[in-house]
Amino acid sequence: MTAQLLANKFIGLDLQKLPQHVAVIMDGNGRWAKQRGLPRIEGHRQGANTLKAILRTCNDCGINTLTAYAFSTENWGRPMTEVSFLMTLFEKLLRKELAEMHQEEVCIRFIGDLDPLPKTLQREIDRAMDVTKNNTGVNFNVAINYGGRLEILKACKAIANRVAQGNLALEAINEATISDYLDTSASPDPDLLIRTSGEMRLSNFLLWQMAYAEIYVTDTFWPDFDSSEFLKAISDFQKRDRRFGKLTTN
Ligand code: FPP
Repeated sequence: MTAQLLANKFIGLDLQKLPQHVAVIMDGNGRWAKQRGLPRIEGHRQGANTLKAILRTCNDCGINTLTAYAFSTENWGRPMTEVSFLMTLFEKLLRKELAEMHQEEVCIRFIGDLDPLPKTLQREIDRAMDVTKNNTGVNFNVAINYGGRLEILKACKAIANRVAQGNLALEAINEATISDYLDTSASPDPDLLIRTSGEMRLSNFLLWQMAYAEIYVTDTFWPDFDSSEFLKAISDFQKRDRRFGKLTTN
């Protein structure tokens, strides 16, 4: 997109002050469907369309990274029919959308414990990451079977193992070491967390990485969270005074 087109589309936004990394908790799919007398899965289907639109907006305005919480380690506790619908949806979407995302230079990564996922989904995940790994557009992290505590636990074990093997000195471990062992090691920490549907919880999402994230909560259900709602969240972010524990931003 040309600079002029960009400026028109994102009017009112300071393109020099964008968050580098936006994380989204896509909540409210079920309630959106219920409100319309539809089965919950229709909410997830519509939610996937929303995610595509938000990803494109991030790519167009130059946001470096978008991380979406698609399935938590706790979500296995949902009815089997919903869990298998979601697994099939992820797989179908990857098959259907990969070529277009690749063409748009999206670089896809998956975070979370991927081993328990259906093998056919794992194959699509591997293919998507491999095909898009050198792309230069938005980095799109999809969290599937992801839990922040589990991620930190795995990092601690891996670090402890290196110490036990004599390959890492205890004194050399610092915050950066832990960040390096997380699934998100390739991404900057999120600057902004958006959660839809009004809940004010982190729900075990990016616990380490979100230490200084600004939080934006909207009552809008995820399927209704369109690009203009997203830009409202970015504009709200740009008004925040980020002090990182200090007294002034300077
Ligand atoms: C939470 O809403 C939503 C989910 C657990 C699933 C999110 C998945 C998508 C939007 C599909 C995205 C696809 C890809 C490829 C990443 P909820 O069901 O908890 O809603 P409720 O709180 O109203 O019940």
